Amino acid sequence: MKYAKLIKRLIGAFVVAGMMAGVGAAGSANAATVLITGSNRGLGFAFAKSYAEKGWTVIATTRNPGDDADLDALAAKYKNVAIEKLDVTDEAGITALAAKYKGKPIDLLINNAAINDAAGKGAVLGEFDAKLFEREMRTNVLGPLLVNQAFLENVVASDMKKIVAITSPSAVLGRPMNKETRRAHTYFYRPSKSALNMAMKILAAEVRERGVIVGIIHPGGVDTEMLRSVYGGKPTPGAQTADQSAAGIVKVIEGLTQANSDQVTGFDGKPIPW
Ligand SMILES: NC(=O)c1ccc[n+]([C@@H]2O[C@H](COP(=O)([O-])OP(=O)(O)OC[C@H]3O[C@@H](n4cnc5c(N)ncnc54)[C@H](OP(=O)(O)O)[C@@H]3O)[C@@H](O)[C@H]2O)c1
Repeated sequence: MKYAKLIKRLIGAFVVAGMMAGVGAAGSANAATVLITGSNRGLGFAFAKSYAEKGWTVIATTRNPGDDADLDALAAKYKNVAIEKLDVTDEAGITALAAKYKGKPIDLLINNAAINDAAGKGAVLGEFDAKLFEREMRTNVLGPLLVNQAFLENVVASDMKKIVAITSPSAVLGRPMNKETRRAHTYFYRPSKSALNMAMKILAAEVRERGVIVGIIHPGGVDTEMLRSVYGGKPTPGAQTADQSAAGIVKVIEGLTQANSDQVTGFDGKPIPW
């Protein structure tokens, strides 16, 4: 077992060495590179799969490398996928990963990782838990800011120069508070995504002159663990699969330009006033 892990690490090191030499594992020195946070499941995994299939070099980050069978299988199938440890709340870990990839152009940085601590206690009126609130804001807002800061020079050095944050329609300030949107989970999650949108708009303004484009994209309702946790563990009627949503988002990302940088857009490409 120990040896299996060691061999996996060595293979990972070779893949990274290849990437650092400018050789995409798909064999092309010109392969574009994407870094994805939270790529072990849900939408993040769907992005990793989609870009791996396209032949991109994929830096698939996860909190617990070696614990994700699907991601391990993807990396075994596509040599252009490198699995890296990254917890977006761990500042030292972010800095260490950025140091490892110093000088490597990253065409697309997808800030996908997030939590929605909704379902349980702590995010309900009368039971507010400050620690839970801080964890949610740290993961969903500060996390992307720290990751973007750490990898900004990699993005600037790339051809495409794109940063994307996955937001939520629940961030929309004008959304009516009907019975559905008034659910307990909204007290922490919704403000975190509104704050994320604003943080990304500020970032977009700041990095525009360096040619960096910032996309803020909502994936629609997607049948993932997050959505199920909010709706009692059951699939939500009408929700898309992660693959369907990711396919839409990949197209939206392709169409991102300076002209629509900083706008909030749906997975279907429609702008969302928020
Ligand atoms: N599903 C929807 O309907 C929906 C709707 C609107 C917006 N979104 C947004 O879409 C994105 C993806 O969500 P999802 O539905 O795919 O959720 P999910 O299935 O719960 O996946 C969340 C991912 O984020 C990772 N993550 C959580 N905390 C992290 C941390 N501190 N550092 C690094 N990774 C962390 C998780 O890793 P672990 O396995 O280690 O926990 C997991 O890979 C999120 O930004 C979410 O807010 C989803």
